[in-house]
Amino acid sequence: MPRAARPAFRDMKGLILSGGRGTRLRPLTYTSAKQLVPVANKPVLFYGIETLAAAGIRDIGIVVGDTRTEIEAAVGDGSAWDVRVTYLPQDAPRGLAHAVLIAEPFLGREPFVMYLGDNLLAHGIVPLVEEFAATRPAAQILLTPVAQPELYGVAETEGERVVRLVEKPASPKSNLALVGVYMFGPEVFDSVKRIRPSARNELEITDAIQDLIDRGLEVRRHVVDGWWKDTGHLEDMLEANRLILDSLPRRIEGEVDDASRLEGKVAVEPGAVVTRSVVRGPVIIGHGARISDAYVGPFTAIMRDVEISGSEVEHSIVMEGSRITGLAGRVTDSLIGRNVTIARQPGKPRALRFMLGDRSEVSLP
Ligand code: G1P
Repeated sequence: MPRAARPAFRDMKGLILSGGRGTRLRPLTYTSAKQLVPVANKPVLFYGIETLAAAGIRDIGIVVGDTRTEIEAAVGDGSAWDVRVTYLPQDAPRGLAHAVLIAEPFLGREPFVMYLGDNLLAHGIVPLVEEFAATRPAAQILLTPVAQPELYGVAETEGERVVRLVEKPASPKSNLALVGVYMFGPEVFDSVKRIRPSARNELEITDAIQDLIDRGLEVRRHVVDGWWKDTGHLEDMLEANRLILDSLPRRIEGEVDDASRLEGKVAVEPGAVVTRSVVRGPVIIGHGARISDAYVGPFTAIMRDVEISGSEVEHSIVMEGSRITGLAGRVTDSLIGRNVTIARQPGKPRALRFMLGDRSEVSLP
């Protein structure tokens, strides 16, 4: 857990952005907010709230769009984290800088932390908040080296100074990507009003920070310590799942019969039943799940009320209420939504039968 910040930071507000459409995680995001897709059986968004709360931030605005009802139902008033949550509706995903613009009345003149609701950071943000409070630049950005900088906002730096920022450049000038956590003073409100929409027709926060630099204001950089994940794509989601599962302790609270073997870091939640199976951690098995005659391999998160029988699953996320039964091959590298059935059908013709939603993906050997 990140260590707690000094009480002085309690005045600072938090802004979490959860308004995007999550197009890169379709079809799951046709029916569910991307910020509620689970990592190690917990919605990604909850890790962000925990991170802000651990930094001493008590007043959090969440920018919401089409999935507002679902996010409100999951998060409530924030009392579960001992924070106060205010929902800030955004009429359409018009960009991160647009979210800042509409949040101005909530944020007021105090400095704030902006956190993208689909981001995960290994070590929290306490050192970042401390550094910002001590130096009080107009903005402080978080950077990390990445293999494909063209997918992110990219920073060019000279020593500690940030000299130029470009959103998803075709030919990146560095490998330093902007992580989805930013700290701002009220100077940013003028910048978000000065910039124009980008090629993807959004007001980019990257452009607003560039505008702060152009106005001669100080933008500091802070290189991330530990891993960071933007869970916008399937591969990132599975990797985040892997990283979080690896940090969970072994905890067997459900029922496991003598014919089963649990190896390594395995969490079996109360009400889960494991029979005649091998579970090789890190794995989490949620409340009410039934695992029988199965193999559940490393880096798998099985949510509540899932049934896996006579099948093998590894390096996957299986969401609540789904059933995987009698499969010949092993399921791997998969993200399976809610109440999905994948089953072997006896009888002829021996054929593959599908009922898949729009933009589903199936890979066969
Ligand atoms: C956004 C920002 C980008 C940043 C990324 C981090 O990208 O625009 O600068 O690097 O988040 O997650 P988006 O997810 O909107 O494509």
